Amino acid sequence: MDHGSTVQGAPATSLATLEERARARPEAFGRTSLIVCESLVRIYQSEGIEVQALQGLDLLVDEGELVAVVGASGSGKSTLLSVLSGLDVPTAGHVRVAEWDLMTMTARERVEYRRSTVGFVWQQTARNLVPYLTAAENVALPMALAGRPRRQRRTEAAALLDVLGVAYCADRRPSQMSGGEQQRVAIAVGLANSPRVLFADEPTGELDTATSNDVLEAMRAVNRDLGTTVVVVTHDPSVSDHVQRTVEIRDGRTSSEVLRRTATRDDGTEHEVAEEFAVLDRAGRVQLPQDYRETLDLVGRVRLTLEQSHIAVRPGDRGAPGGEHAGRTGRDDQPGHGRRAR
Ligand SMILES: Nc1ncnc2c1ncn2[C@@H]1O[C@H](COP(=O)(O)OP(=O)(O)OP(=O)(O)O)[C@@H](O)[C@H]1O
Ligand SMILES: [Mg+2]
Repeated sequence: MDHGSTVQGAPATSLATLEERARARPEAFGRTSLIVCESLVRIYQSEGIEVQALQGLDLLVDEGELVAVVGASGSGKSTLLSVLSGLDVPTAGHVRVAEWDLMTMTARERVEYRRSTVGFVWQQTARNLVPYLTAAENVALPMALAGRPRRQRRTEAAALLDVLGVAYCADRRPSQMSGGEQQRVAIAVGLANSPRVLFADEPTGELDTATSNDVLEAMRAVNRDLGTTVVVVTHDPSVSDHVQRTVEIRDGRTSSEVLRRTATRDDGTEHEVAEEFAVLDRAGRVQLPQDYRETLDLVGRVRLTLEQSHIAVRPGDRGAPGGEHAGRTGRDDQPGHGRRAR
């Protein structure tokens, strides 16, 4: 069936069928996820100009995942992280982290959320650490603010620095550490109050490739050994080699995901496979990759055809002539398809 052609002989879908189908839908989007972003919109107004930094972004992250977020400069990555870390409130949409509804929480709840549920690491090494405190004192500081006893602070700070592989920096101040060491201490600071999620915005942005890899490996260790859910924004496209799930943001929306999994060959040996998926959002939108669009010269109107197991997209003007694909090849009960195009 073709969006640009008529459907012949298709039985009309009854209202009762549609109602039944709507009832069968799952209750809520991402009900079991730890992080839920649904149709998030963030509009900035500056000097009379409106910038839509997030344009209906959907994202689900499950407890225990390590997710990398990539995307071109200006695509909305930092805006998303500011929202998720409770620093910024979106213009519209829904956003929930654990039991916290970030759209409606009060100022007091916001402080509690930031102190108990989430930890952050920023790109600028200097923004993460207090310069006149040692690494161990930096890690103990958020614990003190949360009212934890002194002895507990000392042992837990030492344990965290150990997990991050920087125990030897415990008594050094930031100026006495390398950039990579500072960022690993910053991760320990972010984890000080055992948050459920660690957010990191370009934690490797100021580091060279080798040091970046160390920091990304430290994030993996935190995820694997402490079970903390980690969302890391990075400019480094090779990150998808390190993590199971990479989400790409384009123009304020999630556009594609790369998933890595271990597959078994015929001879029984295992190997890593990376698969790229386009993301279908809640409104049914999907972004077609630019190279696909350019190859087929897809612009403006396109023809959609529902086939037995897939949907075909063809150029609107020169695509398949009506007769050839007018036959109904898809399921008989799809509402909304096969309408005559104007
Ligand atoms: N406070 C602000 N006021 C106005 N516009 C803003 C503000 N913050 C961000 N923007 C705009 O929103 C869009 C998204 O910005 P954002 O910082 O989220 O991008 P990004 O993906 O993090 O980019 P980068 O990789 O360069 O850090 C950009 O067009 C940016 O100019
Ligand atoms: Mg940014």
